[in-house]
Amino acid sequence: MEVSIPYALSAEITHRCPLHCPYCSNPLELQKRENELTTADWIRVLEEASELGIVQVHFTGGEPLLRADLEQLVHRARELGFFVNVITSGVGVTEKRVRQLIEAGVDSIQLSVQASTPELADSIAGYKAHEIKRQAAQIIRAGGLALHMNVVLHRQNIHLVEEMVELCASWGAQRLELANTQYYGWALLNRKQLLPTKNQLMVAEEAYMRAKESFGNKMELLWIVPDYYEDFPKPCMGGWGKLSLTVTPDGRVLPCTAAASITTFHFESVLDRNLTRIWQESVSFNAFRGFDWMAEPCKSCDRRFQDFGGCRCQAFLLTGDARQTDPVCQWSPHRGLITEFVSSINGGDIEQDSDLEKLSPSYSYRGR
Ligand code: SF4
Ligand code: FES
Repeated sequence: MEVSIPYALSAEITHRCPLHCPYCSNPLELQKRENELTTADWIRVLEEASELGIVQVHFTGGEPLLRADLEQLVHRARELGFFVNVITSGVGVTEKRVRQLIEAGVDSIQLSVQASTPELADSIAGYKAHEIKRQAAQIIRAGGLALHMNVVLHRQNIHLVEEMVELCASWGAQRLELANTQYYGWALLNRKQLLPTKNQLMVAEEAYMRAKESFGNKMELLWIVPDYYEDFPKPCMGGWGKLSLTVTPDGRVLPCTAAASITTFHFESVLDRNLTRIWQESVSFNAFRGFDWMAEPCKSCDRRFQDFGGCRCQAFLLTGDARQTDPVCQWSPHRGLITEFVSSINGGDIEQDSDLEKLSPSYSYRGR
């Protein structure tokens, strides 16, 4: 089987984070600081990623600024010729650190925001972070860096799409990702509190279209679809083991950030084997490459070339078998798992949309 060359590495350098977002896609079992790869390990990972042909590195977490060696890693990544992006909550962004990151060669910084008002944003994050984020945006822009922003949408903030677009524009964002929650990790645990109603979603999509029309020339706007309301699954990761890989804080190499949840697989570590060998030869990466692994209905479905049978992590998390068709697919024998859950949110056991927005949900907060 032909193995492609990946273009992007997600370097999850730590799971530690001051925020406790209930939609976090990090695993429920967060890696502790003492298990994190050392600076020397990460530098070797970057060198091996360069040999493999990767061209982009995203330093992420957790909160990557919690590692004091972030600048050193950015510097080495830049020396190796990567496009370097840092994904941050904004907590820990100071003039000094941004200056150091710029000197190290960072290309862009992506900042998350939870809502358009400080009260709601801080209650979602479980941390008083909104004002810190506003200042972080200012510092990033003053440093002359591109500011990319990201909002995860869910039942508690999806009614504020236009306000959030306006907020991000006023903070100087050049690009804004409006990402409907994907249900892995903590988000799956909290999905009863997070999934918007169909009505909320329709209103939000209209608000997004209006915002795209009025902000389209000033700020790039992206909408990540809420797959529970779709008839067909997303082509997750552009195909398993095809375009990108993730290295976890303790060194495991995954085809996507959520794959650690597939407990039936052993994911090899950069501490034991070279990255190229893992990418090309490991059982876990080869398991879902190509189309031969598929069973019906995917096996004989023409859409398999478009969506690759959907998301392997979602198949595992909902059915216990990563080989199954993604239950989002209308032809999956497990589609009922999605339909029943969506009905429970839109049906009688949930109050009106307007009441939902006022509820103080009882999330399971990550890291608490
Ligand atoms: Fe995609 Fe499989 Fe559904 Fe066909 S049957 S649409 S390939 S998930
Ligand atoms: Fe892992 Fe979709 S998130 S394959």
